[in-house]
Amino acid sequence: MCGIVGYIGNEQASDILLKGLHKLEYRGYDSAGIAVVDNDGVSVYKEKGRIAALEETVNGQATGTIGIGHTRWATHGAPSRDNAHPHQSISGRFTLVHNGVIENYQQLQQHYLDRVSLRSQTDTEIIVQLVEKFSQEGLKTEAAFRRTLALLKGSYALALIDNDDEETIYVGKNKSPLLVGLGEGKNVIASDAMAMLHTTKQFIEIMDEEVVIVTRDSVQVKDLEGTVQTREPFVTDIDESDTEKGTYEHFMLKEIDEQPFVIRNIIQKYQDEDGDIKLEEDIRAAINHSDRIYILAAGTSYHAGLVGKEMIEKIGQKPVEVHIASEFLYNQPLLSEKPLFIFISQSGETADSRGVLVNVKKQGHPSITITNVPGSTLSREADFTLHTYAGPEIAVASTKAYTAQMAVMSILAMDIARARDIESDFNAIQQLGLAANAMETLCDQKDVMEGIAKEYLSETRNCFFIGRALDYHVVLEGALKLKEISYIQAEGFAGGELKHGTIALIEEGTPVIAVTTQNHVNLNTRGNLQEVVARGAKPCVIASEINQQEGDNIVLPDMHEVMTPIVSVIPLQLISYYAAMHRGCDVDKPRNLAKSVTVE
Ligand code: F6R
Repeated sequence: MCGIVGYIGNEQASDILLKGLHKLEYRGYDSAGIAVVDNDGVSVYKEKGRIAALEETVNGQATGTIGIGHTRWATHGAPSRDNAHPHQSISGRFTLVHNGVIENYQQLQQHYLDRVSLRSQTDTEIIVQLVEKFSQEGLKTEAAFRRTLALLKGSYALALIDNDDEETIYVGKNKSPLLVGLGEGKNVIASDAMAMLHTTKQFIEIMDEEVVIVTRDSVQVKDLEGTVQTREPFVTDIDESDTEKGTYEHFMLKEIDEQPFVIRNIIQKYQDEDGDIKLEEDIRAAINHSDRIYILAAGTSYHAGLVGKEMIEKIGQKPVEVHIASEFLYNQPLLSEKPLFIFISQSGETADSRGVLVNVKKQGHPSITITNVPGSTLSREADFTLHTYAGPEIAVASTKAYTAQMAVMSILAMDIARARDIESDFNAIQQLGLAANAMETLCDQKDVMEGIAKEYLSETRNCFFIGRALDYHVVLEGALKLKEISYIQAEGFAGGELKHGTIALIEEGTPVIAVTTQNHVNLNTRGNLQEVVARGAKPCVIASEINQQEGDNIVLPDMHEVMTPIVSVIPLQLISYYAAMHRGCDVDKPRNLAKSVTVE
């Protein structure tokens, strides 16, 4: 989704802003722009397409030391140069970048700006024109900015510069993520810390409905009424090298390879000195008090939630429901008497999930967020956070964050079993250790995965995945991975379900990838595979050692059955990666997708 950056200091702003925009590329975007204050006032540069195109346009011309920048993922108005940010007010005095969606922009336009000829189809332009209107009516810039923000309904992270006061950047936030970074004789603004790690590691968090007045030497946070707020800075533990590809061609492959390390990291973080699991006492108490867990998530995180349900129900024997956040938001099912909500979100910013969190909080229900970004909106707004410690995930297609989410849920499942005095020989720490080793073995077989991608997926227009029980949840994720990065039409099915309609799509040579790790349904899955083979499908089998048969394509080390998804997804990730690469796709930045989906 959109991202914003800003810089005020003594160095050339354009270089710093463009570097920041490159770091935000992973969020997904279709146009970009910067505005820099130089001797001639504010100069705006914007382009549709990649940051590289913007860099060519800027071509070293922007020489000022203050500026703002933006990557845009179109919501209102097509991707185009006109709709790209920054946007300027009619007189050119005010220049603005915005991440978020203004829900009442049409009402505001009709009410306040019916005589203004807008230059774009964006909701954002309304904001900058409103600031100009209120300033022309006599308000000082800060007051005009606060008045405008008070009228907005929706989400925003904003940075505004005023041609008549070149020493200040005005910042505002509601629901969209935003940090202000602190430095000596300079301060910066960023949608996330990664974008500005090249300037500082010290940041302050901005809360909803706050404005910040940023100059070279000061940062003042206020509420919308203008009352000054105190805020302690924090030092981010993200290392700049965590956000670099190193020797890898793509972030996705680097992140797939990092998974064994991430799992070992999770073991360390959730283990006490005696090697036992440790969880916050309050989290345990909240779970114990509840009679049913509701897991809410979207996309890959939803798939992790499906596995989490199995772990918690099978190990902890506590009932769990898993829901797609965007559905639950407008169609809430009947809840149990004492529900507890778990939000799973890599980014912690997903608007659909946040919408549900806001609602269930109003209803008075307790909540936990499982996230890779502890300072994120979902993390701040839920009662508790479980951190997945996967490190920054830059590739749009989620890999290590997904396995990390399942790993944390296995620990949760074990803790729930303990708290409920359920006898179980399941030891999450030991199992995660085994999983990390198994992941490593699979990551070492890249040539096999690449061979499968070439043989099965280089020409095909579609591909089906089948599995039963826990394998079903994994094939849903396998299909999502393949379609999002390679654009092959791919669907995951419960093994027994294909014959109820979709089997009509099987033709000579259609690839069908079966995952079979669950012993009790192994023969059923294989039977379903035979049904499609009889109709011309080209089968590929990923089986656990215990279920292995001659001719299987990939054999996975045996694991506890609830832990197999953490491992069996690795071949699916790698096969998708190589399929996309061989088809010439932009693996890390697939078309139309955004990393953190901050709109509904
Ligand atoms: C797919 C993918 C998405 C996200 C989904 C939710 O690879 O990454 O499906 O899982 O957009 O995002 P988070 O987990 O940030 O809430």
